[in-house]
Amino acid sequence: MPGIVVIGLQWGDEGKGKMVDHLASQAHFVVRSQGGNNAGHTIVVKGCEYRFHLIPSGVLHSHVQACITGGTVIDPNVLLAEIEILKSNGIELAGRFMLSPFAHVIFPYHREIDRLSEEKKGQRAIGTTGRGIGPCYQDKAARIGLRVGDLLDPAMLRQNLQAVIALKNEEMGKLFGHSGFVFDSIYLEYLEYGNRLRPYVAQAEIMIAQAIKEHNVLFEGAHGILLDNTFGTYPFVTASSTLPSGVCAGAGVGPRPDIQVLGVCKAYTTRVGSGPLPTALSKEEERFFPTHEAMREIGTTTGRKRRIGWLDLVLLRYAISLSNSSSLVLTKLDVLDDLPVVKICIGYSLRGRTIDYPPVLGEDWEFLEPIYEELPGWRSSTQDIHDKEKLPIHAREYLDRIEQLCNIPIAAVSVGPRREQTIIAQPFFLHM
Ligand code: IMP
Repeated sequence: MPGIVVIGLQWGDEGKGKMVDHLASQAHFVVRSQGGNNAGHTIVVKGCEYRFHLIPSGVLHSHVQACITGGTVIDPNVLLAEIEILKSNGIELAGRFMLSPFAHVIFPYHREIDRLSEEKKGQRAIGTTGRGIGPCYQDKAARIGLRVGDLLDPAMLRQNLQAVIALKNEEMGKLFGHSGFVFDSIYLEYLEYGNRLRPYVAQAEIMIAQAIKEHNVLFEGAHGILLDNTFGTYPFVTASSTLPSGVCAGAGVGPRPDIQVLGVCKAYTTRVGSGPLPTALSKEEERFFPTHEAMREIGTTTGRKRRIGWLDLVLLRYAISLSNSSSLVLTKLDVLDDLPVVKICIGYSLRGRTIDYPPVLGEDWEFLEPIYEELPGWRSSTQDIHDKEKLPIHAREYLDRIEQLCNIPIAAVSVGPRREQTIIAQPFFLHM
């Protein structure tokens, strides 16, 4: 397969970054094509922790060509800070990082609208990351957004930004009583960003279209299937399409039979922000789990504690189907190492009926009662195991049951944060 899309099958934070990092060792191109700095991933290499929000994590491999394409929304200040951090760690991007001129740009008014809209929603707030992602995509859809390419043309930027700021000031004054933004300072700030980003701006999509014919291209999906703007747990979703089709569309790549989808999911479930989590742990069950710190379940982007639940196979099967995943990567199995029993949700009871698919309507989610299957825990460490066959018998039974109920092979299992704590059961790219 020349193309692999790595996709999260839950609500983001599945540990995709680590898998991408593993696959990137065999990839020529790594591509980030949707979302913005609402995503975040942490990768540990030789004891050093790297946090990324925009730059594809595969960039840590020096042979890799990294691309951010037109489907993304970019906060230039965040991107430039990431470039600087990489440089100061000896990772040079010149000549091997491309930023598409089509990508839309996040401005201060987007962040402010994000914050004020959430405030106004009160109890109904989505719990966004507050990075201005939704408002930026809104402007894109309304055809008033500014793109990376605009930052490189002072006259164009002046003309378009002036018009948008006038409009935003009027809208924000009426809606939120906001005092408005000053054009001059934003103009100068973003002109400067444009100058600093200029060396990296190139039409990455053309390179990718060529590359995918003969090289290994890795697409890093951001967020997770259940945050998809159309098919996720709407309205508690993000603003972009998180499906593999959305990932490919954002990279300018049409449907191709030779692109494989690798779905990543945790051995349990987590969620940040508002919205349903049917298999949330009870207070009693929480006591058996490690602390949030020990589980590394504190958000990379906002520092919020993630909510924890049992593995939900109703949602997992739905996400596998939507994403057309051909194999599964199960992460953080080691978090379950000390549990006396592990539970998997195999169906829901909704107002006396049993269902094996998620409800459509928001109000139905409140009445779902998960139906669980209980399996014995393995109560021993999996952290230093490198071979699936050497896992404790009950851990293997857990994996087998997931494979059986989801009708999908588990291609890899992650048992700790370090690169080498990964059990690979199946090769991925065909050629190097
Ligand atoms: P937004 O994407 O900032 O608009 O936030 C919308 C919802 O998606 C919120 O519940 C966020 O917490 C969630 N979200 C967005 N990106 C991620 C991610 O990469 N991981 C986990 N949750 C995310």
